[in-house]
Amino acid sequence: MAGESASSASACIPLLLLFFFFFAAVQCGGGGMNKKRTLPLKPCQTLTLYFHDIIYNGENADNATSAIVGAPAWGNRTKLGGLMHFGDLVVFDDPITLDSDLRSAPVGRAQGMYVYDRKDVFTAWLAFSFVFNSTGRRGTLSFAGADPLMNKTRDVPVVGGTGDFFMARGVATLSTDAFEGEVYFRLRTEVKLYECY
Ligand SMILES: *[C@@H]1O[C@H](CO)[C@@H](O)[C@H](O)[C@H]1NC(C)=O
Ligand SMILES: *[C@@H]1O[C@H](CO)[C@@H](O)[C@H](O)[C@H]1NC(C)=O
Ligand SMILES: *[C@@H]1O[C@H](CO)[C@@H](O)[C@H](O)[C@H]1NC(C)=O
Ligand SMILES: *[C@@H]1O[C@H](CO)[C@@H](O)[C@H](O)[C@H]1NC(C)=O
Repeated sequence: MAGESASSASACIPLLLLFFFFFAAVQCGGGGMNKKRTLPLKPCQTLTLYFHDIIYNGENADNATSAIVGAPAWGNRTKLGGLMHFGDLVVFDDPITLDSDLRSAPVGRAQGMYVYDRKDVFTAWLAFSFVFNSTGRRGTLSFAGADPLMNKTRDVPVVGGTGDFFMARGVATLSTDAFEGEVYFRLRTEVKLYECY
């Protein structure tokens, strides 16, 4: 018995340490919040690009740049389903252009996926990269985050980059520039990088 209480007493020491670190972490967290306000707010690089998504609709296999690859049991992969398309997962390989014209020479591809993730509000979650392969730019920028589609503009984190965008980080402001039925949409993407090397 005595041995047991001794061991539980020594078990308290790590617990106490844990508390100490917890409060220390809270203090540091507060400091971090204050620091946030003094971050440089001017981007080190900005670029405006457009990408064009043509969703497969059962008839446009040649033209389509994206396809529904997963749908909930009540839907199918030819048509985005009801309930705000909830559960539909779309994979895309979209051309990126410098202006809003789909026929302009692409400077790269936007490749990745979006998944509709709310039943009551039209919203999606994005995970994709801009893969640049033009004379002007090579490398990638990766994007991940919520895309509340009902917002005129949506801020999506730029989580990293490679090549000409080595270690880049920032925020991209997306807006749906054009929308034609459920087959075509164009996203204007204003990339603002706050970390450039
Ligand atoms: C897919 O679902 C839509 C209704 O949402 C329906 O009109 C269409 O026929 C379905 N397609 C297939 C291939 O089952
Ligand atoms: C990039 O473009 C060049 C020239 O058109 C081509 O040879 C190369 O395969 C492309 N690379 C990628 C990753 O698409
Ligand atoms: C949605 O729009 C509001 C108002 O324009 C803005 O404050 C908010 O940051 C936007 N949300 C996202 C995720 O971009
Ligand atoms: C491909 O899709 C776009 C957007 O919907 C449309 O403007 C264009 O006419 C289509 N092209 C062909 C060959 O179907």
